[in-house]
Amino acid sequence: MVLVKGIILHGGAGTRLRPLTFTGPKQLIPVANKPISQYVLEDLRGSGIRDVAIVLGETCPEMVKEYYGDGSRFDVKIAYIYQGKPLGIAHAVGLCRDFVGEDSFVVYLGDNMLQNGIKEYVVKSLDGGYDAYILFKEVEDPTRFGVAKFDENGRLVGLVEKPKTPPSKYALVGVYFFKPVVFDIIRELKPSWRGELEITDAIQLMIDRGYKVGYSLVDGWWLDTGKKDDILYANMLVLDERVQREIRGEVLDSKVEGRVFVDEGAKVVNSVVRGPAVIGRSCLIEGSFIGPYTSIGNGSKIFKSSVENCVILENACIEGVSRLEDSLIGRNAKVSRNERSGVIRLNIGDYSTVEI
Ligand code: TTP
Repeated sequence: MVLVKGIILHGGAGTRLRPLTFTGPKQLIPVANKPISQYVLEDLRGSGIRDVAIVLGETCPEMVKEYYGDGSRFDVKIAYIYQGKPLGIAHAVGLCRDFVGEDSFVVYLGDNMLQNGIKEYVVKSLDGGYDAYILFKEVEDPTRFGVAKFDENGRLVGLVEKPKTPPSKYALVGVYFFKPVVFDIIRELKPSWRGELEITDAIQLMIDRGYKVGYSLVDGWWLDTGKKDDILYANMLVLDERVQREIRGEVLDSKVEGRVFVDEGAKVVNSVVRGPAVIGRSCLIEGSFIGPYTSIGNGSKIFKSSVENCVILENACIEGVSRLEDSLIGRNAKVSRNERSGVIRLNIGDYSTVEI
């Protein structure tokens, strides 16, 4: 059997997710209380890939190492490769030459999620003997992505990065299958106008040189979680599809309706929780309404508040807030009501967004 290795890209600047990305990489932001890159790792593992490298960026790389360790907790073997500054996806891949050796491999952006996973594409890429195998998804607004260009016979002839006038509606998904020949191609690349080595340039060069480049159109949803609303949307989809009702914590004088996961040590007191929702370990929910599509991180506390369609990270505190919706709240953050009407008092980090 051909060996396939996995590479998870865990670098990048994550500017669009500031301020959360000042204190941690965006790929560790949780969706349904699990880091996005863990879904990626589990997808690789579920596709039979156990040899994985995680490429680390500048922002708190030690957090990633601490979380994933040597991989044994996830039944994989993990190597760490340090990229530092985000010099491009192709640059990150280029650093993995020694890790890959002579094997085929898949590169998976650590902030991407696929509803149906990658297993069938691992098989297709290997069976077809492709030098590169890529995935496309039809999207409404292709201008934000690398976009496929087909000729009149429907053959893939190129990729255009963030085009003003897209040649098709098919965006390049952040999962790429390669043979090691791609490393020779990456060596030839020059930085693009944004100073990065672009993976689209590498694939374009492979197409131009006549390498065997194949593709599939992805069924089901594909998420590229670059911004706050992407995280909320991912949270909604994952809660909808993957959360089952399970009450491990304590529920007192409360109504917990539908698919709600209440983790160990959590306490729900005098409250209403309407699923799908996840309440993390050792949370305290008191006198509150927790509405659908809400994930509350371990150790957070919600008092006398109403919260809906929110992602709340660990050890946050929400108190006396009558309607908190569509929000992403960072670790140890505090949101509370003050007693003076019409007065707003803030102590927020750089690049925060507050809507009042
Ligand atoms: P992007 O979302 O394009 O870039 P970014 O993470 O820097 O975010 P922003 O635009 O908000 O500043 O990156 C796509 C994925 O690839 C993401 O998971 C980060 C990863 N990546 C690296 O690991 N190294 C890199 O050099 C780059 C550019 C991205």
